[in-house]
Amino acid sequence: MTTTIALCNLKGGTGKTTTTIYLASALTAQGYSVRVLDLDPQGSATEWAEEAEANDQPLDFEVSPANKRTISKSYREDFVLIDCPPGGTDVIDTAISVADLVIVPTSPSAIETSRMWNTLAIAHAKTAYVLLTSVRFGTKEAEELLEVLRDERTPRIPTQIPLRQDIKRSWGMKPVAWHGYDDVAEFLTSEEATDE
Ligand SMILES: Nc1ncnc2c1ncn2[C@@H]1O[C@H](COP(=O)(O)OP(=O)(O)OP(=O)(O)O)[C@@H](O)[C@H]1O
Ligand SMILES: [Mg+2]
Repeated sequence: MTTTIALCNLKGGTGKTTTTIYLASALTAQGYSVRVLDLDPQGSATEWAEEAEANDQPLDFEVSPANKRTISKSYREDFVLIDCPPGGTDVIDTAISVADLVIVPTSPSAIETSRMWNTLAIAHAKTAYVLLTSVRFGTKEAEELLEVLRDERTPRIPTQIPLRQDIKRSWGMKPVAWHGYDDVAEFLTSEEATDE
């Protein structure tokens, strides 16, 4: 059975594509078969895979451009990760409707927090988790976001992904360090993740 995960945030630049590629790599390293569907017309995930291939370090999973129709097909992999575009296009609604789980990558800042709530509202019918990314631990912004998520009882993936130049620089390469995405993969494959 395939678990389909949509990575969405209405806001641009929150780490959707980075999370898609790292999480797909971590799941593959843990022995699962994975396919990435690139729903973003910018094609960043597809470009990442092409660049890695050109650098002689191909990713261990397939990344293919997708549209509203192809994301609804059935796939044979254990996990299908959908990298969604930013903005309020209706493809996001389709991605959420075909997904078993929704992950909303969010970095701690006022603007991102506001769009995070909008994204969670669209995903209300599904199990949706916030994943904190580009986190500077101990900052006021990070602490405030954690507190509001706790207060609102919003499901959150327990691992937080740190802000790291290594992550930024790894665009177009096969990930070699996990920066916590291995723990995210473990959480998603545990029963806890689907019990919500
Ligand atoms: N944990 C991190 N630490 C440092 N930089 C990061 C981290 N995660 C992502 N980035 C950087 O932030 C930028 C935006 O990331 P990414 O492209 O993954 O976001 P996105 O949500 O897919 O953007 P878009 O909405 O344009 O599709 C990129 O330059 C990426 O390298
Ligand atoms: Mg992207």
